[in-house]
Amino acid sequence: MRLEEVDSSAWLTLEGAPTDPQSGFRFINLCSVDWNGRPQARVVVLRRVDRLARLLEIHTDTRSQKWVELSNNPIATILGFCASARVQLRLSGIVRLHPPGNDLANYAWHKLASWTRSTYAGGPPGGEPNRDEMNSFTSGADADGKAFFGVLLFQADSLDWFELGKPSNRRAMLDYDSAGVLTASRWVNP
Ligand SMILES: Cc1cc2nc3c(=O)[nH]c(=O)nc-3n(C[C@H](O)[C@H](O)[C@H](O)COP(=O)(O)O)c2cc1C
Repeated sequence: MRLEEVDSSAWLTLEGAPTDPQSGFRFINLCSVDWNGRPQARVVVLRRVDRLARLLEIHTDTRSQKWVELSNNPIATILGFCASARVQLRLSGIVRLHPPGNDLANYAWHKLASWTRSTYAGGPPGGEPNRDEMNSFTSGADADGKAFFGVLLFQADSLDWFELGKPSNRRAMLDYDSAGVLTASRWVNP
């Protein structure tokens, strides 16, 4: 396989992941850096990928720690592993925040299922739950969550690609410019 093929196959796989229930990249780890310089990781749903622009879209509650951390420091890493593809992807990049009321947030909200909308209507993530919320599956009207719904757009500037293989593993490093153009690529030892 040529390095250009590594690049295109990785991004095609990522682009298909949000609509492929079998893909290991449907759920990815989003890693940010907190106020103390500590790495913080959490699983999120990969909502949309623009493979040409090297963009990944993630939805979250703007009251969450990740939103606060990324507001302070937009540098992030995304890590995923797909068992069927036998590939690990480690993407480095920058996150742009699209707060409630922003065009992209409005558009994404409009397309969400009612149940998903309702998950944004409860108390702040990490806060103490109130009794009513603990005893009820519906924590508020759908529309209530819109005020807290934000979109994170992750722009990749590099990809560390690792394939588990027999007889040997393979690993490649790929760099992108701010327009998503592949600017450098090389094989490295796994
Ligand atoms: C399978 C799975 C999918 C998740 N998807 C999301 C998501 O898309 N967005 C999100 O904000 N949190 C998602 N979560 C919850 C986060 O992992 C995390 O617990 C929560 O957002 C609080 O993280 P924070 O305090 O670092 O902001 C998901 C958790 C699991 C287990």
